[in-house]
Amino acid sequence: MAIISTPDVSDDEFAMVNSTTLDSPAPVSYQTPKLISRPQPNQHPSKTNSDRAGDAVTDKPSTSRLDDSIFDSQTKDGGHTGFFQDNVTGLKNSVKSLYKKFTSKDILIAVMGMTGSGKTTFIANATGRTDLKIGHNLTSCTQEIQIIETIIDGRTVRFVDTPGFSDTYLSDTEVLEMIADYLSAGYSKEMRLSGIIYLHPISDNRVTHHATKNLDMFRKLTGEKNLKNVILATSMWDKVTPEEGLNRELELKNKFWSVFIAFGAQYCRQDTSAKSAKQIASMLMDNEPFYLELQEEMGKDNKALKDTAAGREIMSQLSLLKEQQQRELTEMKEMLLRTAAEENKAALAALEEHYKKMMHGMEKTISDERRMNEEAARSSDEKIKELTERIHKLEKKGSCVVIATFSGFGTADHNLHKLRRAPLTKFFSKLQITKLEPEIHKAVHLLCDKLLRFADKKEPFDLTSAYSCFTSDVIAEYCFGENLGFLQQDGIEPNFRRAIFSVLNTTYVFRFIPWLKTLASTVPYMAKYLSEDVRMLAETLNITIPTWIKETKAEMDAGIVRERETIFASLFRSNLPDEEKTIARFAGETVALFGAGTETTSWTLAVITYYLLTQPDILPKLTEELRTVVDDPKSLPPWSTLEQLPYLNVVMTEGLRLFYGVSARTARIATEEDLVYHGTWTPKGSKAPIILDYVIPRGMAIGMTSVIMHHDEDIFPDSHSFIPERWLVKGKQRRDMERSLFAFGKGSRQCLGMNLAYCELYLALTALIFRVYPHMQLYETTVKDVTYDHDLLVPVARGNGVRVVIT
Ligand code: HEM
Repeated sequence: MAIISTPDVSDDEFAMVNSTTLDSPAPVSYQTPKLISRPQPNQHPSKTNSDRAGDAVTDKPSTSRLDDSIFDSQTKDGGHTGFFQDNVTGLKNSVKSLYKKFTSKDILIAVMGMTGSGKTTFIANATGRTDLKIGHNLTSCTQEIQIIETIIDGRTVRFVDTPGFSDTYLSDTEVLEMIADYLSAGYSKEMRLSGIIYLHPISDNRVTHHATKNLDMFRKLTGEKNLKNVILATSMWDKVTPEEGLNRELELKNKFWSVFIAFGAQYCRQDTSAKSAKQIASMLMDNEPFYLELQEEMGKDNKALKDTAAGREIMSQLSLLKEQQQRELTEMKEMLLRTAAEENKAALAALEEHYKKMMHGMEKTISDERRMNEEAARSSDEKIKELTERIHKLEKKGSCVVIATFSGFGTADHNLHKLRRAPLTKFFSKLQITKLEPEIHKAVHLLCDKLLRFADKKEPFDLTSAYSCFTSDVIAEYCFGENLGFLQQDGIEPNFRRAIFSVLNTTYVFRFIPWLKTLASTVPYMAKYLSEDVRMLAETLNITIPTWIKETKAEMDAGIVRERETIFASLFRSNLPDEEKTIARFAGETVALFGAGTETTSWTLAVITYYLLTQPDILPKLTEELRTVVDDPKSLPPWSTLEQLPYLNVVMTEGLRLFYGVSARTARIATEEDLVYHGTWTPKGSKAPIILDYVIPRGMAIGMTSVIMHHDEDIFPDSHSFIPERWLVKGKQRRDMERSLFAFGKGSRQCLGMNLAYCELYLALTALIFRVYPHMQLYETTVKDVTYDHDLLVPVARGNGVRVVIT
């Protein structure tokens, strides 16, 4: 478990959480656990181990994943039970023929239960086979899944003999993996079970922790709705007196099996005769064949094993086990140190031996956990494939619906996000933005000229829209090599703000009613019946942006090379896989870049403008500082000079604090570990803080909004006021504030365009201060027009926006 001790959880912390799997006491060296990889297509499963010399040869039977080659392969013995000898380990391996010649008329019955419950004996009795290796104590013999076939009442019945959980040799993870491999691969072959026989030895004088754990796992992988197809059978009646047996049977039925029975499971006794075994089997033979829960979760819903009900159970058990082992190791280490100090050599040697064994156990737990996570990563590759197929399908339909999930910003999957973000990153480095700077200088002056032209009109206008003409032109120029002409046009209409808000307005609807996204594809056909905003959305997403992308592609195909490569030309040329370079995907990326790159910076500028025009003591101080580097307001110094100015710097930072950045609770998921939230809370009216410890289970989405963080009164006293001077402190106080400033986010999802945003903000604010603010007055604008009211991914104020007149 990892500890989160502050509320400001970031990706950085998650990265840290994931890398601190254990605080290893480790005097014994920790080796990377041996991993068992998936056999390659058409590779003989028995050769898999021997071919990987020195790699993953284990002293256990292979739990390698099954693939389609298994379905086609032949066995040495004609495919009856499919045993063959593994060259390296000498262990029996039966996976090869498990699915062979399975037809829908065949009856498949799984036999499950703990090691020592008599599963193989039961199958031997039912099939008359005498060559099955049966364990005679609590040591397991079934370390692989075996299929044994027989004829009962003239029908072919196949018994699936599965290893039990709490096995002597295999960990629960390995057992689950083995069963999952078999079942999920069988799903694609429409292999359904007719029933399950769950055996329990009545000779066990108590139902142990292992037995209840086994039952839990069994229930999760079977699924409640399938319990009606289960027979709970008690075995080994010859080893107890009738009275003992009866008492235990009652306890099982009334306590441990009551839920199963309530869901329709049947109960019976099994004696050692063939007749009894066959009778039990025939109770299931007429059932409607069904898929187990685990099969549906993996085969149909494409879930990774660790995300299935049974997998989650295993993962949580592993987590508990790891904690326990870690605790025990720490205690043992202390004991070792004490014993070493006492110079008791014999005791020390014994303890060291024990310590090594414990370390071995810990390594095994970690290796199990890692394997489950690796399996999930594989599934995530498959998910990427699935997503790109979906995009292709949409494109083929002709309705090029662009939804933000096609952009890096909207991509939930960690690996896919990484893949999509990588080729964009270089465009937003400080160096690259410095290269773009001349264009930004030009745009800044066009903005000032545009605003000053309003002096002729003498009418109030929405300042944020005017600023958004500036930010939209810059990002369009960078993405496609051409601006939108918003700065040069007279007035502020049209601009991109309405289109962006028409997208933002849908985010919550789509977030909570995801299927509505599908309706968006019908928008082009329905556009004329829809409101202006939605029509704008449809047009922008389906026509305007895809057209730009297509033009960029056509330009490239025609061999036209621009002096400065545009973002999308570079993306087309990048080594992204072809399926990631579709028009729909790139249009999604455009929406994200335009959305993220326009509203954010323009609203920050508007917020800062409001405070500079309403708090008269700030502007003179700022102007004085700026005069030290600005000789001619029409020829500004570079961004690198401006950002060195301390007062300008703190004005900007305070503006970003009260703009918040992305105000939505953008979700983060710790995928590999449970998190412990450690904090304090002081109830109203009390002075004594209460210490809180909450466990946040892995896989749970959590999020924190900058709107809360930026108003932490302990860090930012009088937090609702615009006080740039608060940032002029040094040391811990400043560090605490920086840590709590979340305007650009943190970690691997941090704002990609941060350098562009800063460059725009520094240059625009400087130019505005000298050229425009002396002519600008607020018009019917109060603090409510810049105060956060609600969240549309970005913060939205309650009023009518920042309106100004130019004189
Ligand atoms: C003052 C201006 C800006 C602020 C405060 C801001 C803030 C943010 C924040 C908080 C995030 C992270 C969201 C999350 O946690 O998932 C973000 C992401 C992003 N921002 Fe900005 N942003 C600004 C300007 C820009 C600009 C000018 C661009 C240029 C295109 C841009 C592009 C992006 C992109 C592409 C992402 C997604 C990054 C990813 O998920 O990989 N932003 N922004």
